[in-house]
Amino acid sequence: MISKINQLLQEVEALTAGNADELEALRIKYLSKKGAVNELMTDFRNVPADQKKEVGMRLNELKTRAQERIAALKEQFESMDSDCGDIDLTRSAYPVPMGTRHPLSIVKNEIISIFGRLGFSIAEGPEIEDDWHVFSALNFAEDHPARDMQDTFFIESHPDIILRTHTSSVQTRTMESTQPPIRVICPGRVYRNEAISYRAHCFFHQVEGLYIDKQVSFTDLKQVLLLFAREMFGADTKIRLRPSYFPFTEPSAEMDISCHICGGKGCPFCKHTGWVEILGCGMVDPNVLRNCHIDPDVYSGYAFGMGVERIANLKYQVKDLRLFSENDVRFLREFEHAY
Ligand code: DAH
Repeated sequence: MISKINQLLQEVEALTAGNADELEALRIKYLSKKGAVNELMTDFRNVPADQKKEVGMRLNELKTRAQERIAALKEQFESMDSDCGDIDLTRSAYPVPMGTRHPLSIVKNEIISIFGRLGFSIAEGPEIEDDWHVFSALNFAEDHPARDMQDTFFIESHPDIILRTHTSSVQTRTMESTQPPIRVICPGRVYRNEAISYRAHCFFHQVEGLYIDKQVSFTDLKQVLLLFAREMFGADTKIRLRPSYFPFTEPSAEMDISCHICGGKGCPFCKHTGWVEILGCGMVDPNVLRNCHIDPDVYSGYAFGMGVERIANLKYQVKDLRLFSENDVRFLREFEHAY
């Protein structure tokens, strides 16, 4: 009997099955009521008493091993089934986490889109600039107090190389390289040497606009800005222009829009004036045209410049400017549905 058990043990260790039916046949052969193991159990009665202990132990071992081996083969089939068995095409897909656009990109893209529809194309220029493109060509005299309006980052060893303080430098470059008609907007990052606080940062973003052609007038400027304001802030938005000063435009103005929070009635947001400032603008100074080799007797044009953060603040009431550059995802996710 021992040799029979040993032979079965060897067989059991070597069992393999190609599919579930073969496995079931093996289970019947070894473990069913009439299977080999049970048959031996029945014969166990006839084992002489002095051998019962040893034969009993071996027999139990055979039974356990047969059960283990068949269970292992079964598990193998089941895992194969889930790997490459039927695929449930109705099951919903794993969610893919999506990023969100940065609020400044959303606003910038919207500005680009509005002016794009009005026929403006995009011009870009370098952030590391020289004095000529940022100041001199734009009519800032060498000792002009207007240069103090903007705290500039200089490179100590090369005072002529600066980080641009406004995107008006792209106006200069565009006019130098292109003859009118010119109709561009220039989005980009600018730098100013400011202490960082909730309302100032050492870098921010602007969009500059420039239109040069024959007989461009202040009326054209006003109309384009009105269309922009209505597209950006809603059809009921009103604008007003206040006289101002910029070295590169004459006349110059600052534009306010009716406060879209209170509809112009007056609220803490607009400091109870009903108006909020959104941009600077004016007619390009003839000196600037001349500096860029455009004849002011033939051509005229307007320019405007706005801060992207400022527009984003007006649209979304972000109280702290620093949030725009900290990239806290909890802040960024708030704009998930904004575009
Ligand atoms: N460059 C000005 C600034 O940074 C903004 C500006 C004002 C741009 C008037 C213009 C303009 O083109 O005409 O404050």
